[in-house]
Amino acid sequence: MEIGQVPVYKLFDGGTIPCIGMGTFGSDRVSAAEVAGAVAGGLRAGYRLLDCAACYGNEREIGEEIGKALREGVVQREDLFVMSKVWNDMHRNVAASCRKSIQDLQCGYLDMLFIHWPFPNYHAPGCDGDARNPDSRPFSAEEFLDTYRQLEVLVEEGLIRYIGISNMTIRKLEAVLGELRIPPAACESEVHPCFGQEELVEYLKQKGILPIGYMPLGSPRRPERDIAPEDVVDMQQPALLEIARDHGCHPAEICLKWALQRGVLPIPFSVHHYENNLQAAVTEPLSEEEMSRITALECGNRLVKGQVFLWEGATDWHDLWDENR
Ligand SMILES: NC(=O)c1ccc[n+]([C@@H]2O[C@H](COP(=O)([O-])OP(=O)(O)OC[C@H]3O[C@@H](n4cnc5c(N)ncnc54)[C@H](OP(=O)(O)O)[C@@H]3O)[C@@H](O)[C@H]2O)c1
Repeated sequence: MEIGQVPVYKLFDGGTIPCIGMGTFGSDRVSAAEVAGAVAGGLRAGYRLLDCAACYGNEREIGEEIGKALREGVVQREDLFVMSKVWNDMHRNVAASCRKSIQDLQCGYLDMLFIHWPFPNYHAPGCDGDARNPDSRPFSAEEFLDTYRQLEVLVEEGLIRYIGISNMTIRKLEAVLGELRIPPAACESEVHPCFGQEELVEYLKQKGILPIGYMPLGSPRRPERDIAPEDVVDMQQPALLEIARDHGCHPAEICLKWALQRGVLPIPFSVHHYENNLQAAVTEPLSEEEMSRITALECGNRLVKGQVFLWEGATDWHDLWDENR
């Protein structure tokens, strides 16, 4: 793809962000070296947005490739949009986490830093589904705001350009949005055809917060702890297969077009198909009828239930998403 061809979304202040990004979570299955290899190829293929996180355990390897691409003139720093996230055990020490990500990613500053989860409940990367931390506690607006204020300072210091939030609910957003000095530019949430999060997506847009959809393809190789017997496989839904056949492409690309056409920024992960995914952003769009057929696949199929973050006294994972009223 020609550089500059990736369309952009506008952020709340008029700044821009590429409309599709590259996910970098290896899902405990793909090594740091392989992910870094995909980033190297992705940058050369035209990706300009990278979705990284401290807890993915691969920022150093990815940073080597970013550094190399910058030195070789593959991309200029100002044309790259590098995002990272503060993991749950660093909520009281955001500046240190930010500085480490900047250093590892060899990018000088971050374009956006996210609060990965809105509470400090920690579990070790790679843990299994039964893991629980006795120190875990429910969401607290005060604690969240304390963490958020540390990010506001980083904006003022020039270490990060924008603040991002992730894994929020409308209820949590309502509790904190009125208290923020610098608005969040984007919110990362699980969004794919069988879990469209229509209400949350519309709420975010209305508040001027860009919805970023993670697991946009339904994450077929997600970690074992996030696989439940009742889960539905998005990319095997007959409607998606049929629409993909009509467009002569893989259902993955149809999922991405659907996200883009409803104003969601998708961040697909891929070590083998990243070029096709980027092309999906500029090839033939879906018709209104096709969009409706995909939207109709909604079945509340949340894949990241987040049970490993539960606190003592919680009923079940629905508590985490404010669904047990
Ligand atoms: N904020 C958060 O809490 C959070 C949580 C989860 C994820 N994320 C972010 O979201 C990103 C994406 O989520 P994800 O990695 O779990 O799932 P995903 O992007 O929905 O799915 C990735 C899988 O789909 C396959 N795939 C990708 N493109 C394909 C294509 N065109 N044809 C066929 N197969 C294709 C990949 O296989 P190949 O590698 O073989 O191509 C990979 O196994 C993560 O990497 C991470 O950056 C954020």
